[in-house]
Amino acid sequence: MTDAPNIAQKGAFSVEVQEGKTYWWCACGRSKRQPFCDGSHKDTGFEPVKYTAEESKKVRFCGCKHSASAPLCDGTHNRL
Ligand code: FES
Ligand code: FES
Repeated sequence: MTDAPNIAQKGAFSVEVQEGKTYWWCACGRSKRQPFCDGSHKDTGFEPVKYTAEESKKVRFCGCKHSASAPLCDGTHNRL
């Protein structure tokens, strides 16, 4: 069973990603290493979401964990 995710932060985390590198976005909201997974989702029913950077740039990862475009922020945090 999957409960609602924790809201880690009501706003995006801006991260400079590097081309070709893989990142694991925390979907459960419990990680202490936001916006990325640190394994804290164990037993929550959530799994991290893989993000592979196609280019080096700044990415706005969802911090509220309610984005419909996860792992990216889509503005949903404004309605929470
Ligand atoms: Fe989640 Fe913006 S931080 S939608
Ligand atoms: Fe949140 Fe892994 S700690 S998905």
